Amino acid sequence: MTREPTILVFDSGLGGLTVFAGVARLRPGADYVYVADDAIFPYGRLEPDFLIARVHAIMAAMIAQARPDIVVIACNTASTLVLPDLRAAWPDIPFVGTVPAVKPAALQSRSHMISVLATPGTVARDYTRDLIRDYAAHCDVTLVGSQRLAPIAEAFMHGESVDDAEIAREIAPCFLEADGRRTDHVVLACTHYPLLLPHFERLAPWPVDFVDPAPAIARRVDHVLRERGFAASHGAEPRLGAAIFTSGRPASGPLAGLLRERHLVQQASPAP
Ligand code: DGL
Repeated sequence: MTREPTILVFDSGLGGLTVFAGVARLRPGADYVYVADDAIFPYGRLEPDFLIARVHAIMAAMIAQARPDIVVIACNTASTLVLPDLRAAWPDIPFVGTVPAVKPAALQSRSHMISVLATPGTVARDYTRDLIRDYAAHCDVTLVGSQRLAPIAEAFMHGESVDDAEIAREIAPCFLEADGRRTDHVVLACTHYPLLLPHFERLAPWPVDFVDPAPAIARRVDHVLRERGFAASHGAEPRLGAAIFTSGRPASGPLAGLLRERHLVQQASPAP
């Protein structure tokens, strides 16, 4: 196939930009549509049935408008819940999700003490508990649900100042010591969290590996596109993509700048 693919990247807010950046590195020439459901951000506190219906409605509007070749659900809180519904509704479109990187963390951990830092929604999901049972049975796994970190990451992207003491408090439960062992891997199981990685590294009580799944998701997207006949686009010039915010609010100055750096420009929202 000679044309470039259209890639739709979806999140509740700006966290999906961490995944978008990884995908855009491997597929610079693709046409991108980034959709943030900021009208009802954060997703982490929403009831499962409401969230499934909401994401379905947004996908229906966006798929009709953008006709994507692939959709990336760049949100753990949504992916751990909505993927079966989306795949059933649009069987011809591949959906790549973002789920907690429990497997690589459990494989790499030397202390066999790992933590999963996520939204309260992701922490409560059967999907997350099944991942731990299937891939990390040999580890002590601590699930940490944070109400505050995704909104803090969002504020940071809007150029607002963030409070180190609050971030330190939110990540503190990830760090455990027992019998001479201590946590050595913290899975960043919300796509907003890598936006705060320099803060986490500076505020961590001891050095750990913070596991960001974006590079693995990007490789998966690239692989699926190749399987569908889209040739690699390494070295292509980036095209200007669309950023759509369901709130319809214009991006603040700092955010508009961050979007421009990523070759994204805000467009009006057709979503519900
Ligand atoms: N970025 C989302 C995730 O990966 C969630 C943030 C939110 O609570 O909306 O889980």
